[in-house]
Amino acid sequence: MNFVGAHVLSVSQFDRDAIEQVFTVADKMEPYAHRDRVTRVLEGAILGNMFFEPSTRTRVSFGCAFNLLGGEVRETTEIKTSSLAKGESFYDTARVLSGYSDVIVMRHQTEGSVQEFATASRVPVLNGGDGSNEHPSQALLDLYTIRKEMAAQGKDIDNLRIALIGDLRYGRAVHSLCRLLCLYRKVHFTLVSPPELSLPDSYVDEMRAGGHTVIESQDLAPGISHADIVYVTRTQEERFPSQEEAEKYKGLFRLNQSIYTQFCEPNTVIMHPLPRDSRGNANELDNDLNENPNLAIFRQTDNGVLVRMALFALILDVVHLVDKYARDVSWYTAKRF
Ligand code: CP
Repeated sequence: MNFVGAHVLSVSQFDRDAIEQVFTVADKMEPYAHRDRVTRVLEGAILGNMFFEPSTRTRVSFGCAFNLLGGEVRETTEIKTSSLAKGESFYDTARVLSGYSDVIVMRHQTEGSVQEFATASRVPVLNGGDGSNEHPSQALLDLYTIRKEMAAQGKDIDNLRIALIGDLRYGRAVHSLCRLLCLYRKVHFTLVSPPELSLPDSYVDEMRAGGHTVIESQDLAPGISHADIVYVTRTQEERFPSQEEAEKYKGLFRLNQSIYTQFCEPNTVIMHPLPRDSRGNANELDNDLNENPNLAIFRQTDNGVLVRMALFALILDVVHLVDKYARDVSWYTAKRF
């Protein structure tokens, strides 16, 4: 894959070599993300960060990643604060905003919208999530996290045993992650969901065609036993035809410390793309797991900055210049990492 000037719209653009390239550059970004060093390699560059759907970590971590490389960020949030609300097309919006930015990240509720926008854009566009379709940067950071967590246990992504739990129908992070995992060998997938929220057949067919094992279940306990990774997801209520419909599925599968101790292996890693829904009727990933050392959810969010820095550095072709424009930090830095 040639990253320079490329759009990143789907995980189907990636092969294992491209993934390794991203991960190698992400590793190189650690001193900068961890505030040991500062680089100004993207000084003068502008990121157009356009989030037409709610977001905390994708929007802020893409913005931080760009700032950490020395660039500036211009944000558009919500449709109602943009001229899309006045009927402007994606085509016109893309032509205009790509004149103001060097690279654009976009999130929108409609499947295929980011692809449509990218077709008209004069600069590279990264998909920050389009409806229930794809979330490529989330899948890359999840895979990066899985690789690190498994390496710490002397394991590999090949032969991984992963349980995916919850809303697998509308969860775009799960869709993109499953596609990336299909690039590895003999992954054992256990899919735990109510039948109405099961993973679409196209993904299951692709996984089976690639020689992976897929077990579908409606029972949490056997699903999470013998898993290296338990990947929990929230009911994506914003994708349901009505709130009432979404409420039916909240709280069906809840992972807490007691269930973890009873059914998981002692070193099973717990992941979630976040946000977790901590309201009482949902609570799919309980706060009583917060001190569990195998809870990797905040390692995932930290890794997101590294992976997003890597994508920017590769697309804007500055990987070889990052260290040249670097110096030590001059302020107090709390030990967070
Ligand atoms: N994982 C994720 O996409 O989180 P946000 O919706 O907060 O960006």
